[in-house]
Amino acid sequence: MKIKSLVLWLSVFSSLFSEEPSAFFATWQGDPSTTMDIRWFEGGNIHQLYVRKKGENNWLRKIAHYQPLKYNGIAYVELADLEEDTTYEFHFSEGEKIYEFRTLPSSLDRTICCGIGGDLLFKEASFRKMGAAVAKSDPDFVIVGGDIAYTERRKNSWKNLRRERKKIEKWKHFFELWKETMIHEGRVIPLIPVAGNHDIRKRKKIDGLFYRIFAFPEKNISYRNFDIGKTISFFLLDSNHSHPIEKHQKDWLHWSLYSHQSYHYKIPIYHIAAYPSAKKANFNAPTPKKIRTHWVPLFEKYQVQVAFENHNHTYKRTYPLLKNRIDPSGVIYLGDGAWGVDPRPVKTSAFYLAEAKKINMIWLARFTGEKCFLEAVDIDGKVIDALTIVPSPSH
Ligand SMILES: [Fe+2]
Repeated sequence: MKIKSLVLWLSVFSSLFSEEPSAFFATWQGDPSTTMDIRWFEGGNIHQLYVRKKGENNWLRKIAHYQPLKYNGIAYVELADLEEDTTYEFHFSEGEKIYEFRTLPSSLDRTICCGIGGDLLFKEASFRKMGAAVAKSDPDFVIVGGDIAYTERRKNSWKNLRRERKKIEKWKHFFELWKETMIHEGRVIPLIPVAGNHDIRKRKKIDGLFYRIFAFPEKNISYRNFDIGKTISFFLLDSNHSHPIEKHQKDWLHWSLYSHQSYHYKIPIYHIAAYPSAKKANFNAPTPKKIRTHWVPLFEKYQVQVAFENHNHTYKRTYPLLKNRIDPSGVIYLGDGAWGVDPRPVKTSAFYLAEAKKINMIWLARFTGEKCFLEAVDIDGKVIDALTIVPSPSH
């Protein structure tokens, strides 16, 4: 009994004085070729980060900033003035494990690989397995298309997530699993978040955890561009979770598509699908209808090649669509939010679906100067679909 108590106290004592946070992640809100944002759930005494360019001798100590949450907080270091396409090492204190991160190139001189998938931590076993398949592909980064940690549920199904503490614990657990699965040969794979209906509770809107755990170029505005040099622009949109589809976001999208016309690839990513693929999803529900009314005509006007959608828990590829008809010069919609959820039966009657299956999967995009190769990868890491897009004619 005494030995058991001693072991318990030792484990509590060591966790209190652990020199490495159990949950940390890398992300970008600025230029991915010169910045990196490392964030971690407060670990008691971890107030700094040591960083150096790989191959150099001296560590640079960076003191963390702090974003309080209700019960603990997020510590973060925003690194700037980094060299492009360069590997850096970091650790949290002397003698602790050294991790790596890699900045992106600002041009397409080398292939840039990114994972795109939504609806993640609903079923832990599926989330882990899919994550292992993603990490094995060694992507430069991953864009998660909403419903990330599943902290926000409908009122009658909140159960044990009613309390803020439980929600914070679930986010923390998500990042513990992310750290376990999304580190490839010592290199952390940065995560870029997009908002979903299970990330932001409508009544809380911009006051919620999503906006405090992550950071955005404009405070409390989740829609934004994520640009790689002057070649690739991801339009990360908010499908009515904390910002309406119409009004300011629509105006911003129009302006932003206009100002990114010369980019090779213009790729919108958002949570709720304009062209849903789940059997029970309603094509004429308010949100899909609003997206088709306000965003889709802009995608078509500015010759977006593909758009990524989620929320349906299926795999899908649409035909190219223009003005809601199949047209070879239209936009292809890929999805459909099936990283770590129970996949759903698919619509068989939808005119716009070229492919749809009830499986777990994500998309991988490999960008080169000449082409972008897109692959649908299932939970066993098997490629189940592939397509190629070429740079926009207006670039
Ligand atoms: Fe969703």
